[in-house]
Amino acid sequence: MEGNRVKVKKADFVEVKKEKLLEHNWVLVKTERYEEPIYLRKLENNDYSAVLLHCQHKGCEVNPAADMLHCPCHGSEYTTTGKVVKGPSEKDLQQFMVQADGDYLYIQL
Ligand code: FES
Repeated sequence: MEGNRVKVKKADFVEVKKEKLLEHNWVLVKTERYEEPIYLRKLENNDYSAVLLHCQHKGCEVNPAADMLHCPCHGSEYTTTGKVVKGPSEKDLQQFMVQADGDYLYIQL
């Protein structure tokens, strides 16, 4: 944490497994402010999105699935950028601004 923002290394998207570099397109970021982690996703054009994995229906923790976000409690589904696509939730996930700077990303809380 740096004031009201969280600093994340871009290198955290890369994992070394059996001497090979695996590049992931998302990571989970745990903060002191929220119980649930933030889902930080790499988009095209070097853009990033960040959403809080707190379901807008009744507050369960949303799980990342293949190419969507799924709430295990009552089945709400969200896109990977947090837009609701299936109820019972009627609201999108909370989103945060992300800024990039050299080797780091900054999530504005
Ligand atoms: S709390 Fe997520 S669908 Fe109900």
